[in-house]
Amino acid sequence: MTECPPDLITRRLLLRIPVLQDAPDIARLAGDPEISGNTLEIPYPYDHRIAHEWIAEVSEGVKAGTEMIFAVIGRNTGELYGVIGLMEITREHSRAKLGYWIGRPYWNQGYATEAVCAVLDYGFRVLGLNRIYAFYLTRNPASGRVLDKCSIRHEGVLRQHVRKEGTFQDIAVHGILKYEYLSPG
Ligand SMILES: CC(C)(COP(=O)(O)OP(=O)(O)OC[C@H]1O[C@@H](n2cnc3c(N)ncnc32)[C@H](O)[C@@H]1OP(=O)(O)O)[C@@H](O)C(=O)NCCC(=O)NCCS
Repeated sequence: MTECPPDLITRRLLLRIPVLQDAPDIARLAGDPEISGNTLEIPYPYDHRIAHEWIAEVSEGVKAGTEMIFAVIGRNTGELYGVIGLMEITREHSRAKLGYWIGRPYWNQGYATEAVCAVLDYGFRVLGLNRIYAFYLTRNPASGRVLDKCSIRHEGVLRQHVRKEGTFQDIAVHGILKYEYLSPG
């Protein structure tokens, strides 16, 4: 059993564990086809019931230590902007997969980048992970740009790795290792 992740505070954001009261905001923002269409695990349509079930699953994953998920909240606004987390945490390999989405009204204001930086710090300094990696659809360059800005390196492309909306799609893999994070350059 693992403890709940602590709240993470950045210049503009509070990252905290999602709670059931977040379900309407999560359903509204993640229900945008621009979110499901650019992620691998978010279904469309996405309603309150799915958001509730997902939040309940998160708390199970957190207890089991296999994931650490955060709602991304504006410190000044109190609004939920999106979700970010470390998933598939494995102690054996000391690694985790990073995933995130930001609701469309909040795009291009640097929120994903700010949240990713905070979660990297948590993953390497608090959880002591050795590797954090992320996948994204190559047709979604904004996600690649966020990873680049956080110095999470492009490692390769998995060709036609997923079938999405009936079409095989390429996936890019980015990763960063603990020593690169702690001793950049
Ligand atoms: C990808 C996503 C998380 C970005 O969130 P965000 O808060 O807008 O990200 P940021 O503002 O921190 O950075 C976005 C960067 O992408 C750039 N960008 C936006 N659209 C772009 C495009 N079509 N092509 C290339 N770059 C693009 C922005 O200019 C910005 O870079 P800059 O700071 O150098 O100008 C958000 O668009 C999203 O949730 N998309 C759908 C879900 C998703 O893709 N999740 C990630 C999959 S793991």
